[in-house]
Amino acid sequence: KQTIKDIDVKGKKVFCRVDFNVPMKDGEVTDDTRIKAALPTIQYLSDQGAKVILASHLGRPGGEVVEELRMDAVAKRLSDLISKTVIKTDQVYGDEVNQAVSQLEDGDLLLIENVRFEAGETKNDPQLAKEFASLVDFYVNDAFGAAHRAHASTAGIAEHVPSAAGFLLEKELDVLGKALSDPNRPFTAIVGGAKVKDKIGVIDNLLDKVDNLIIGGGLAYTFVKALGHEVGKSLLEEDKIEVAKEYMQKAKDKGVNFVMPVDVVVADDFSNDANTQIVAIDQIPADLEALDIGPKTREKYADIVKDSKLVIWNGPMGVFELEVFANGTKAVADALSKTEGYTVIGGGDSAAAVEKFDYADQMDHISTGGGASLEFMEGKELPGVSVLTDK
Ligand code: 3PG
Repeated sequence: KQTIKDIDVKGKKVFCRVDFNVPMKDGEVTDDTRIKAALPTIQYLSDQGAKVILASHLGRPGGEVVEELRMDAVAKRLSDLISKTVIKTDQVYGDEVNQAVSQLEDGDLLLIENVRFEAGETKNDPQLAKEFASLVDFYVNDAFGAAHRAHASTAGIAEHVPSAAGFLLEKELDVLGKALSDPNRPFTAIVGGAKVKDKIGVIDNLLDKVDNLIIGGGLAYTFVKALGHEVGKSLLEEDKIEVAKEYMQKAKDKGVNFVMPVDVVVADDFSNDANTQIVAIDQIPADLEALDIGPKTREKYADIVKDSKLVIWNGPMGVFELEVFANGTKAVADALSKTEGYTVIGGGDSAAAVEKFDYADQMDHISTGGGASLEFMEGKELPGVSVLTDK
């Protein structure tokens, strides 16, 4: 695929799709990681003398104007971060946008309104895609976090103007792509999170690639059940027990070390005030719920991570939002921070956990994609990438 280095943008108008879908509270941006991650591309386009028209979605307004989901606070934060005026329109397209675009000078930045205020965005309406394309000479996609969506501003537009990948998109694809196609070994994947359902594709694909597959989080208990143990009140997906068995068999057939918790923290309540105890994995009491991995498991997982040359982590080990069930997730973050191997955090909750427990600086790559990095790890093609112009 072309990257922005391959196109000459001087004096040209560029539609740059970014993922500014950031957490907000009371009209303020509470985490600007994604805005910061897009800065190299925005700065480069501006420095090269492009007229930059930025676009993003924010939340899921469902094709209507939702006042709290306007992009004004985002434009303000971007402007502060890049020390440059960011013009903001209240329209996604139309007269106001045309007017603003026509007045842009080389290097100027404009952010249009939340693209999901238009119903055509998520429908990938060709009319809206053409509308976007008609504004510009080039399309640049730097929205890795939204690259798994085939929407008008992430995919449709690229059918009408020459396009290229931005630096963030390029970096995410390089890191994740290299990890999956040519990994340093031993290669360890840690898959956690609440549901087997959400991770089926990832586990399946990773079993073809890794040396160790470590399981944790709520989804582990379906595997525990598949091994023939009782799980008490822990999360269990009855309809996924067979799949869990198949994966354990696949791991055996492929020579993958399939690593399960050996002990867990069980509790009588889903709260910080719960009475907790540590039990062996085959001793979960019928009336209690497992909400974190136990100390022996933490040690076991840390040992494997220590000896790995590449670790990919997606999904927490327990209910890390509650202090009493955060130790497993913390221990994994800590182990990743200490290994000499290359560490990749696959976005979403694990990225939030690494941030929360202050390990972000010690990771080699934290993906800005939640769903996008999951789909990439499933081996799926991302529509926002496949549409881009080839070199
Ligand atoms: C994300 O936050 O994962 C991306 O911005 C995509 O958002 P979406 O799931 O609403 O499409």
